[in-house]
Amino acid sequence: MTAAKPSAAALIAWQRTHGRHELPWQRTRDPYRVWLSEIMLQQTQVSTVVGYYERFLQRFPDVQALAAAPQDEVLALWSGLGYYSRARHLHACAKAVVECHGGAFPRSSAALAKLPGIGRSTASAIAAFCFGERTAILDGNVKRVLTRALGFDADLTVAANEKRLWQHAEALLPKDGIEAYTQGLMDLGATICTLRRPACDACPWRAPCVARAQGRPEAYPVKTRKLKRGQRDNSLLLLSAGRQLWLVQRPTPGVWAGLWSLPEYDAEAVALLLLADRGPGEIERLPAVRHVLTHFDWQLRPWHWRLPEKVAASTRSRIERSLPPGRWFHVDEALAAGLPAPVRKLIEALA
Ligand code: ADE
Repeated sequence: MTAAKPSAAALIAWQRTHGRHELPWQRTRDPYRVWLSEIMLQQTQVSTVVGYYERFLQRFPDVQALAAAPQDEVLALWSGLGYYSRARHLHACAKAVVECHGGAFPRSSAALAKLPGIGRSTASAIAAFCFGERTAILDGNVKRVLTRALGFDADLTVAANEKRLWQHAEALLPKDGIEAYTQGLMDLGATICTLRRPACDACPWRAPCVARAQGRPEAYPVKTRKLKRGQRDNSLLLLSAGRQLWLVQRPTPGVWAGLWSLPEYDAEAVALLLLADRGPGEIERLPAVRHVLTHFDWQLRPWHWRLPEKVAASTRSRIERSLPPGRWFHVDEALAAGLPAPVRKLIEALA
């Protein structure tokens, strides 16, 4: 028994009646807006993205405005969305569009994929939505949908297998209606063909779906090489003097690259540093925060060192020299800067 091929027409019909039509980036074919949404949506859920998207567009209504902005301001508006390399690439991409393409996004997926931060799937999504190009997408959700529908059980951590899945994705494309088809794949992945407990009964591809016939949709996609998650444990120093805070800019590359953060220490070193030869003021240990990143779990142990507002200039400069290079920020200025989400929470609790 061979199952029928999943039909693009069935997916398009389902998208038109059951798919999403009211998302803010669906009311436009402006490549700047579509590109921005696709980058924000790469590792972040729709419900989180919506607010960021509107604020970002208010401040940077077009690619010229974004290209002309200082990086700090771009990071500040990105603050809380995570995966900050996306924001730096986004900024670099805006500059490239202005400097190398006269301010207009290129109109083919091949040319779009040459820009910073735009991978093959994102390039295809933009080209399909804005220019109607008949081209395949294959992001994480779509990989799940297609491997299940086709019963594609080869290991996707092997590049040659991923390449074969791209070929399947291309073979399924409709002659017409690429916009609804592309959105339909995304909608199916987000609302029906979910990671856990997919709603197979509501799926337009329930009849041809191989994984459903096998009764094991959750076995797909197959990925054998597991990400090894590390553990890290650091102390953070929240040094305040009245409404002033000492912040340091994170190095590039690395976690939170380019964002303003708190001085970071090995867990033990900071305890020694703070408890032995410290300056004036009170030190309080704040509750530890667990922060989950792609490659490791991070235990952050914040210490709040409250300097008296009036400290001898010589004492203050001695303390400054003992800190990682940075500068004083007023609390309000700090909250307007690009801060990692856990650091923002700590500072908000002060304010
Ligand atoms: N995820 C990635 N792109 C999307 C889009 N255009 N709409 C909804 N979710 C998405």
